[in-house]
Amino acid sequence: MSAPRRKRGGEVGSGPHPVYKCSPAPRLLPHFRSSTSERARACQESWAVAMAGGAVVNAGAGKDYPGKLTMFVLFACIVAATGGLIFGYDVGISGTPSIPLLNRGVTSMNPFLMKFFPSVYRKKQEAELNQSSQYCKFNSQLLTLFTSSLYLAAFVASFFAATVTRVAGRKWSMFGGGITFLVGAALNSTAKDVAMLIVGRVLLGIGVGFNNQSVPLYLSEMAPARLRGMLNIGFQLMLTIGILGANLINYGTSKIHGGWGWRVSLALAAVPASTITVGALFLPDTPNSLITRGHTDAAKRMLKRLRGTDDVDEEYNDMVAASEESKLVAHPWRNILQPRYRPQLVMAIAIPMFLQFTGINVIMFYAPVLFKTLGFGDGASLMSAVITGLVNVFATFVSIVTVDRLGRRKLLLQGGAQMFACQIVVGGLIGAKFGFTGVAEIPKAYAVVVVLFVCAYVAGFAWSWGPLGWLVPSEIFPLEIRSAGQSINVSVNMLCTFVIAQASLPMLCRFKFVMFFFFGAWLVAMTIFVALFLPETKNVPMEQIVLVWKSHWYWRRFIRDEDVHVGADLEMHLDVAAHGVATHPTRSFFEF
Ligand code: BGC
Repeated sequence: MSAPRRKRGGEVGSGPHPVYKCSPAPRLLPHFRSSTSERARACQESWAVAMAGGAVVNAGAGKDYPGKLTMFVLFACIVAATGGLIFGYDVGISGTPSIPLLNRGVTSMNPFLMKFFPSVYRKKQEAELNQSSQYCKFNSQLLTLFTSSLYLAAFVASFFAATVTRVAGRKWSMFGGGITFLVGAALNSTAKDVAMLIVGRVLLGIGVGFNNQSVPLYLSEMAPARLRGMLNIGFQLMLTIGILGANLINYGTSKIHGGWGWRVSLALAAVPASTITVGALFLPDTPNSLITRGHTDAAKRMLKRLRGTDDVDEEYNDMVAASEESKLVAHPWRNILQPRYRPQLVMAIAIPMFLQFTGINVIMFYAPVLFKTLGFGDGASLMSAVITGLVNVFATFVSIVTVDRLGRRKLLLQGGAQMFACQIVVGGLIGAKFGFTGVAEIPKAYAVVVVLFVCAYVAGFAWSWGPLGWLVPSEIFPLEIRSAGQSINVSVNMLCTFVIAQASLPMLCRFKFVMFFFFGAWLVAMTIFVALFLPETKNVPMEQIVLVWKSHWYWRRFIRDEDVHVGADLEMHLDVAAHGVATHPTRSFFEF
């Protein structure tokens, strides 16, 4: 069914299915509830009728606020998105914990290992002589501690970042994250012993925790609703650029004679860190954050500038109302456990967990091995970094262009199916050749096919779970629990990255090609989860996302009618069609 035209005061849609249109009264705070207008009541009644009928109901977009994409908002979002660079640079520069033989990070550089982890270096030499079992013999608690200390520090830091982001504003969390990362980079690059290295890495982790907590929120709040996906994905784009850049830099510095190349790699982390640190100083704070902190006039001026129009009253009023409501919630952490926030809480845990259980980090780090079998020899590491890195960057553009038109669900469903198919093919091809012994000669053509499927897998990730794993959690929380919710998202992501990294070496040893099927099974689970439980959020203003949950076949049971206070003159289209397609007008970036 095609999206019906939106008409003020008229009927919506002309398809075969009945379509309800609601325009509730202005946002109602709990103490004003008794003044609900007739119109709002009628809307709630028609809604209740739709629900009672047991139909599959899917809320479409809310209001279409006036405004356009201004250079100001675009520039602010590009600068803020550079916060993604520091995370990406770190992923690329340090390599994955516990698989140093496979990775391209500094932990694979001999001079680095000789200086800080001599016993690991000796084991590596031995393992290299014994090719057949190299992945199973190799392990070091200390090296694992070095790499994983970042994720654990980021895990803890994101909870502190929640308070800074809420109380001081989003930009100060970004600034704090940038400067801490900068100090960490300085310590790491000048490290004299393991202690200095680990302290530096903990500081990097704190920087990543603060940035990952605040940047996606900042981008989602600055963007006009209908371009929120596109602007938010700037974060993941920068992340992928960071990974690619770090891999290339690492390759270059590993060739430096004299054994200090790793210092250059670690010192260059200061470049993205300085960008976000200095950038954050000049960034405006989001209107939502300004209102919440009492700067209402500044917020309105900012909104006019961001939207390029003086006609911002409607959006501004909705933000003020959301802020008033959020003030009634004194303890975000305790409140997030209330049933009315259950859908968001489940998503804040499930989405980052699923993102990591796509197996992306294991696959990307496994790629060099496949490239070696192609005969690239010493160049395998560079080739795999360039090829998978470029696929990762360019495929992210696919989601930038499509996410606000196709929506989040379609990308996740398609990407999940594509990644699943690739995991099964790659696992099958590797299993057929290597079996469980892990020793075989792979013909070149065979290896090319495997690499192509690895690239298709990375592409599927890069336009689905990669960016949407950051976008969706950042846009589904009401203001009162937004900051706390985003910290849960970041901490679960960090924890799962850590767990998967720790488990990947034993998994690779024990299960060999079956590991691909393991992640394939997770992809089936997450795709079914999206199909059943994730409602579409494209084009819906963040202040009205509650309507999306309220009209979802499952989540609506957690949200009472009195929990739904939506903005003035909201045009809400409830499509009672069994297929549950959102019935809202969609204006794309190109129509501005
Ligand atoms: C994930 C990272 C991953 C990266 C790959 C991000 O969304 O959080 O763990 O390394 O995507 O592009």
